[in-house]
Amino acid sequence: MLKKAIWIFLLSGCGGFFFQNCQKQQETEKSQSNTSTNSTQNLAITPKPKLNYAKYTDSTLYPNGGSELAILMREMYDDMDSVKKLVLRGELPMDLREKFAYLHSATPTDSDTKHENYPDMAKAFMDNLNRFYEEKDKEKRLKLYKVVVQSCISCHQTHCTGVVKKIKKLEIQE
Ligand code: HEC
Repeated sequence: MLKKAIWIFLLSGCGGFFFQNCQKQQETEKSQSNTSTNSTQNLAITPKPKLNYAKYTDSTLYPNGGSELAILMREMYDDMDSVKKLVLRGELPMDLREKFAYLHSATPTDSDTKHENYPDMAKAFMDNLNRFYEEKDKEKRLKLYKVVVQSCISCHQTHCTGVVKKIKKLEIQE
């Protein structure tokens, strides 16, 4: 019973805590359009990536739907899982910087999310992601991959802490 509850919790991720996501999302979108320029000033032009809404709001996996940020994060998790496999094989992964940069502007479930340390953590994450992509040496790139995953976890220590265990699956063990 408990196991089942945990499983549902993991699958529904953070969005699972909130009902009527869509409604709430529309409201926050409106209220954020005036204020968002402050926190995203240095990345004012973050083009919106094409997100796979059909897959990442599949109601059998995500019964409570999800915010734009939640959907981006779900994709980021799967993308990083593919990156991990390529890095382990010493191959150069596809460049996901432009897509991931959208974490600066994507609308979160909870409108308070972006007000705390979020912008700094997002910037630190993007800086580490840049270092990872700029590294040509396979071994060093592997180390930088680990740093990127640590930056996911760092932000998740204060935001959406429930998925840390899941993100840890992206780690590469020695
Ligand atoms: C700057 C902070 C930050 C960084 C960096 C970050 N996340 Fe998130 N993540 C969040 C927030 C905030 C949410 C909650 C989104 C919402 O509910 O709208 C979230 C949600 C998630 C979720 C749950 C989505 C759901 O189903 O509700 C997963 C999985 C996830 N992140 C994985 C990752 C991975 C993997 C990385 C690194 C590649 C990462 N995150 C980097 C802040 C961050």
